[in-house]
Amino acid sequence: MKKYFKAEPYLRRIGLLGKLFRFSIKTIKDGTPVYERSTLKYDGVFEELFSRRERGMEMSLTKDEAYTLYSGALAVRHLEGAMAEVGVYRGGSARFICEAKGDKDLYLFDTFEGMPESRISAAIDTWQGKTHATTSIGEVRSRFSGHKNIYLVKGIFPDSISGYPEFDFGNKRFCFVNLDVDLYQSTLDALEYFYPRMVLYGRIVSHNYNLSPIPGGDTPGVKAAFMKYFGGKSEAIIEIADTQCMVIKSQ
Ligand SMILES: C[S@@+](CC[C@H](N)C(=O)[O-])C[C@H]1O[C@@H](n2cnc3c(N)ncnc32)[C@H](O)[C@@H]1O
Repeated sequence: MKKYFKAEPYLRRIGLLGKLFRFSIKTIKDGTPVYERSTLKYDGVFEELFSRRERGMEMSLTKDEAYTLYSGALAVRHLEGAMAEVGVYRGGSARFICEAKGDKDLYLFDTFEGMPESRISAAIDTWQGKTHATTSIGEVRSRFSGHKNIYLVKGIFPDSISGYPEFDFGNKRFCFVNLDVDLYQSTLDALEYFYPRMVLYGRIVSHNYNLSPIPGGDTPGVKAAFMKYFGGKSEAIIEIADTQCMVIKSQ
C-alpha cells in the first residue's frame, strides 16, 4: 500500500527554520542571543489560567504582571496572614491572586464605582483619563462567587474599613498585598496601612510603579508615594516586569 505523505515533520522543520531565522535576525540586531519568551517561565497551570481570562473584560495587566501576582501569592501562601488588593475595578488582576491563594482570606478594596475624584491631585496624578466607573460590587461579587474566602470592601480606602467591623481589621495581618490604584494619595494611604501589618517575608506589589513618561499616560504618583513612604528606610523597592515593583517585609 502506498505510504501516506506525512506533512507534519516537514511543517515542523519549516517552523523551526522560521524560529532560527527570527533568532538570527534578533541576534544580529541586538548583538546578543535573545530567547523567545514563550519558551521560558510560564507553567501549564498559569498558561491555562491566562488563556481563560474573560475576553472583552478590560484588564490593565500584561502577562508578566499577571504572572507576578500568581507566582507571588503562591510563594507566600504558607505564611500567616490574609491577602488583599486595593484597586480591583472589575476583578481582572484579583483573579490571578485568587487562583493561587489556596484557603487564604482575600480582601478586595475598591469604590466599585470609579476612581475617587477627591484623591486625584492635579500636581502629581497626571493620569486621569479613565474613571474605571464601568463596574459594580454586584458584578465583582458574582465573578468570584465560586471561590471561598473572598471579601469585598466597598468605598474609599482606608475610610471604607470602618464600615466593615465584622472583618475585624484591627487584628489582621497580611502576607500578600497588590496595589493598583494609580494615584499618589491612595498608594501612600495603602502603604501606611498595610506595610506595618505585613508578616515577615510578606510581599507588597504595586502596578504602574514604572511607566514611561508619556504625556497623559503615566502615573508618577505611584512611584512618588513609594519614595515618600520608604524614603529613609532600609527596605529595597524591587523593580520588576513590566511596570510593577515589589517590597518584601524583611524586618
Ligand atoms: C487601574 S484600576 C484597577 C485595575 C484592576 N486591578 C484590574 O486588574 O483591572 C484602579 C482602581 O483603583 C480604585 N481606587 C483608587 N483609589 C482608591 C481608593 N482610595 N479607595 C478605593 N478604590 C480606589 C479605583 O476605583 C479603580 O477601580
